[in-house]
Amino acid sequence: MHDIIRELERRREAAYQGGGQKRIEAQHARGKLTARERLEILLDEGSFEEFDTFVEHRSTDFGMENTRVPGDGVVTGWGTINGRLVYLFVKDFTVFGGSLSAAHAQKIVKIQDMALRNGAPVIGVFDAGGARIQEGVDALAGYGEVFARNVLSSGVIPQISVIMGPCAGGDVYSPAMTDFIFMVRDTSYMFVTGPDVVKTVTNEVVSAEELGGAKVHTTKSSIADGAYENDVECLMQMRRLVDFLPSSNREPAPRWPTFQEIEGDDISLDTLVPPNPNKPYDMKELILKVADEGDFFEIQENFAKNIITGFGRIEGATVGFVANQPMVLAGVLDSDASRKAARFVRFCDCFNIPLVTFVDVPGFLPGTAQEYGGLIKHGAKLLFAFTEATVPKITCITRKAFGGAYDVMASKHMRADINYAWPTAQIAVMGAKGAVEIIFRADINDPAKIAERTKEYEDRFLNPFVAAQRGYIDEVIMPHGTRRRIARGLRSLRNKRVEMPWKKHDNIPL
Ligand code: HXC
Repeated sequence: MHDIIRELERRREAAYQGGGQKRIEAQHARGKLTARERLEILLDEGSFEEFDTFVEHRSTDFGMENTRVPGDGVVTGWGTINGRLVYLFVKDFTVFGGSLSAAHAQKIVKIQDMALRNGAPVIGVFDAGGARIQEGVDALAGYGEVFARNVLSSGVIPQISVIMGPCAGGDVYSPAMTDFIFMVRDTSYMFVTGPDVVKTVTNEVVSAEELGGAKVHTTKSSIADGAYENDVECLMQMRRLVDFLPSSNREPAPRWPTFQEIEGDDISLDTLVPPNPNKPYDMKELILKVADEGDFFEIQENFAKNIITGFGRIEGATVGFVANQPMVLAGVLDSDASRKAARFVRFCDCFNIPLVTFVDVPGFLPGTAQEYGGLIKHGAKLLFAFTEATVPKITCITRKAFGGAYDVMASKHMRADINYAWPTAQIAVMGAKGAVEIIFRADINDPAKIAERTKEYEDRFLNPFVAAQRGYIDEVIMPHGTRRRIARGLRSLRNKRVEMPWKKHDNIPL
């Protein structure tokens, strides 16, 4: 008996050593933690239950039979984050560069299947060199099995990918099909083909960082939803994110204790919108004042900053905030902003997270760049996403809601449940200047007449009352009571049920 226990301990110790001390040191020298160190930070202390510690690859090509390492380059299992179950696979770069063999893929697939069956999120931590080159088609088949589970799990359990090193070749497509991707600055990069292949095929000379570093993916491609300074910060933020999310589409998001009451007024909001309608103000201030304790987890903070998306809580329950940002491009909707917000809205709808939308939008961005880039289809994505969403939807127009963008931004017509407007709201087909120049074109050379017509248009349309008279706005509210009104509204919508017409699935304009 003692011998077998010693054997177990010896094998465990070998598995815990991964690719050996030298490679662990190399990992540290690059500012990266090992797979097991990452797990320790990500999970509640002592909660990790490992699976498949002793799995080894079965390859015999290129002398691989002499290079078996227990675990085969990925640590898998489950544990808890603030007491809630999560499943994990964490690539171990010290073993064959974390590359994926058939056995390695089977470990991941087992975890994905368990997570789906048991209704808990999957977190994948990537730090790997793609397909195990020595395994050929078996590695490709393994990727295919992982991808298929990503698709089947989509909309059922939250899937989060954390990129903490290289993520190339076959490794990129699994994260791309998950709900969120987060990266670490300077140590992580993602691309389908690396700089060497790029040079061979296109003659382009580019570094790994320029091709697929965190900056590129959080500001240009929008592949990643956020980036952090180092492994520790990134993993701590993933714990925070998980606290906002439900475990599956069968459950509501968790409720956490809150200390900020909803009944008080926030007088500072009454002066948030400047008297001059062309002056910007920071919409984030409103979000922070409405969310419990100002706790806001922003998604895609550095991409399409003209729209803000992210999670907060009201009365302890998660809500998804979507808000135009007048500080950037006057809060206009363009293709990037529409895509960004549409994806966020769909995530919230999949996972029973109510939507709170703040509107100050002068319209869609005009110009050839936008039109050639498919603004019509991208704008339609947001329109589609808001309309199909059946979660509770509360909208508040703070200032401009012009043209098609008024409709798109969770208006009453897009099946929002409660639509508020501040007294400063201006709900119209377009701003006064543009409108007058079109409908009074004959007077264009008469400044006095134009000024008079502009004033007439402003008085008639640039207010919330025309829409309120028609019931498109349910109530014009004082800014200082916004948090209270939204909290009470969400309470009233807790049992909302909506039947959709039968369909296999919709055909969102991708
Ligand atoms: C087997 C691999 C490997 C791989 C790395 N290693 N990638 N072993 N298969 N794909 C091994 C290395 O041999 C090395 O072993 C150890 O991991 C560390 O790698 P280094 O190259 O020393 O590290 P570094 O300099 O940091 O470079 C990391 C890297 C590089 C950029 C990831 O290793 C690299 O370019 N790897 C190959 C990437 C690639 O082309 N993958 C295949 C993609 S095709 P030792 O023993 O020396 O420590 C693909 C298709 C799938 O994925 C498509 C499915 C849809």
